[in-house]
Amino acid sequence: MVDFKHSVVYQIWPRSFKDSNNDGIGDIQGIISKLDYLKNLGITCIWLSPIYASPNDDYGYDISDYYAINPEYGTMDDFDELLLECKNRNIDILMDLVANHTSTEHKWFKDALNNPSSPYRDFYYFKEGVNHREPNNWLSFFGGSSWTKESDNSYYLTSFAPTQADLNWENEKVREEIYNVMKFYLNKGIRGFRMDVINCIDKKPGLPDKNPNKKGYQFPDDYILNGPKVHTYLKEMNEKVMSKYDGVITLAEGCMVTLQDAMNYTNPDNKEIDMCFHFDLSTLGYGSLGKYDFRKFYRFNASDIKSITRKWQNAMMEHHGYIANFLSNHDNMRHIERYGDIKLYYLESAKAFALYNFMLYGTPFIYQGEEIGMTNLKLDYHEWKDYEAINSVQAMHDMLHVPLPIAKKIGQYVTRDNARTPVQWSSEDYAGFSTTTPWIKLNPNYTVINAEDCIKDPQSIYNFYKKLIELRKNNEALCTGTFKELNKDHKSILCFKRSLGEDEYFIMINLTKQASDITLDEPLQGEELLHNGLDKELRRVMKLAPFEAHLYKLIKKEEPQPKVALHSSKYRV
Ligand code: NOJ
Ligand code: CA
Repeated sequence: MVDFKHSVVYQIWPRSFKDSNNDGIGDIQGIISKLDYLKNLGITCIWLSPIYASPNDDYGYDISDYYAINPEYGTMDDFDELLLECKNRNIDILMDLVANHTSTEHKWFKDALNNPSSPYRDFYYFKEGVNHREPNNWLSFFGGSSWTKESDNSYYLTSFAPTQADLNWENEKVREEIYNVMKFYLNKGIRGFRMDVINCIDKKPGLPDKNPNKKGYQFPDDYILNGPKVHTYLKEMNEKVMSKYDGVITLAEGCMVTLQDAMNYTNPDNKEIDMCFHFDLSTLGYGSLGKYDFRKFYRFNASDIKSITRKWQNAMMEHHGYIANFLSNHDNMRHIERYGDIKLYYLESAKAFALYNFMLYGTPFIYQGEEIGMTNLKLDYHEWKDYEAINSVQAMHDMLHVPLPIAKKIGQYVTRDNARTPVQWSSEDYAGFSTTTPWIKLNPNYTVINAEDCIKDPQSIYNFYKKLIELRKNNEALCTGTFKELNKDHKSILCFKRSLGEDEYFIMINLTKQASDITLDEPLQGEELLHNGLDKELRRVMKLAPFEAHLYKLIKKEEPQPKVALHSSKYRV
C-alpha cells in the first residue's frame, strides 16, 4: 500500500473524462476503459470528483443521495467494477466527500421542507428573516445572498448555490449520517476521501451579521471558515471512522486556510486529517471578493510565486504539517495560461510548472488533461454550464457595477468551464471522448493536443509527467526530504534543494518568459536528471532561457586531503 506521502494523485472530473456509451457524458465505464492509461502514466491514486446521485446544479457537488450513483455515470455495479479494476492495478480511489451541504433534492431536505415537525429541519439552518430581509448579510461563495427563501419570512442557509443547503454539523445525527456514508464506501474498499469545503462546517454561533455597519452582502470568511469546531468534528470523525480502517487517506479542501489552520488540521499528533490543499497560488491576482473580483486584473509575478512557495514549504517542514500540491483542478481555469505562456513557450512552461509541482515537499496532484497540456477554451456566454460563473457575472454587475458585457468577458476568462471541456484522447472525431456532441463544447485544438499523440512523442508533456512520477518513486528525498531555498532574492528563478541524509537534489526553474542570469548562493556540482529542453551543466553562474528548468542530483565535493599526514609531529599540539 502506498502511503499518502508517496502517492501521486490524479483527479478525475467524471463528466468530462471519457464517455463509454456515447451519450456525450463521461461515465464510470469510461474511467475503467482508461485505467491502463493512468497506470502507464504511473499515478498511484485517483481522486474521483462526485459521482453520486445529483440534480447537477453544481455537477455532483449537490448530492441528492449519498448511497446512489448518478445514473448518467452508471450504477453501483459499475462503481464496484471500477474499484475492482483499480485494485487489480494497485490504484487507490479517494472519493469526494461533500458534507458541508446536500442538494435540496435530498430526502432529508425535502422532508424538512414539507413537514414543519420534521426532525430533519434541524439537519439544516432554517431561520426567520429580519425586517423582511434575509436573516443576515452573508455573501454566498457564488455571489448574492447566502440565504434562500422558504416562505414569506423563513429562509435556509445556502453558502454556495441556492440548491445546496448547508448541513448543521452541531446536530450529532448529521455527523452520524455522514460517518455512515464514509463507512459505507470504506467498507467497499476505497482508500479515503477528498473532503469538499470541510473547513466550512462550523458556522459562527448565532449566525450574526458580518461587518454590520457596511452596506450590502459581506463575505463571512472567518464566520464560516476554519471555526474552532472544525477540529472537534475532524477529531471525532477520525476516531469514529478513519481510525477503524487501515491506511485511510484524507485530504481537506482548504478554502482560505492559513498556515496555522493547515498545520493544525494535518499535524499527525492532532489526529485529524493527512493533507490539506491551500489556495494561495490559485487565487493569485484575485481581488478580495474572490475569483470574479477582477480589480487586481489577475496580475502577479514570479516573486509572488516564490514567496508563497517559501512560506508554505518552510512552515510545513518546520511544524509537521502536510500539504497536497496542485496547479489545476475543476474549479479554476487551467494553470498553463495563468503561470505559463501558451503562445511562445507552451511546452517549456507546461514542463517547468510540472517540475515545480512535483519537486515540492507535499503530495502532487494532477488534474485530468493537465498531463497532455490541455488549454482553456473561452466559451461564449450562451455556452456556459457553470452556475458559479453565470451567477457571479450578475453579482459583479450588482455589487461592483461592472457593465454586463464586460462582466461576461471577465467571466469567460475565469469560468470553471475552462477546465471542464472533455479530455482530448485522440485526433479522431469528438477527440475520442465520445462519438457524439459532448455535453459541453470540445476544445477544437484536440487535433493537435491529444493523449494519443502525446504518448508517442518522447518530448511531450505527457512523457515529462511520466518521468517526474518515476523520479519521485525512485528517490525518497524527493518525497520526504527537506526543502531549502537558495537565491531567495532572485526575481525570476526559483532554486531549492531537497535533501535526505546523503541524497541531495537541486531544482532550478525560471518562472518567467524572460531569460535571466543567476549566480548561485553556493557552488554546487550535480548530475542532470531532468530538464525541459536544454541539457546544461550545473555551474555557479548560469543563464536560463524563458521557463528553463532543471533537476540535478548533487554530487558531494571531495574534501581536499591535507598534504601532510595529521600524525606528523609537525602538526601535533
Ligand atoms: C468546492 C468544489 O471543488 C466546487 O466544485 C464546489 O462547487 C464547491 N466546493 C461546493 O461544493
Ligand atoms: Ca456516457
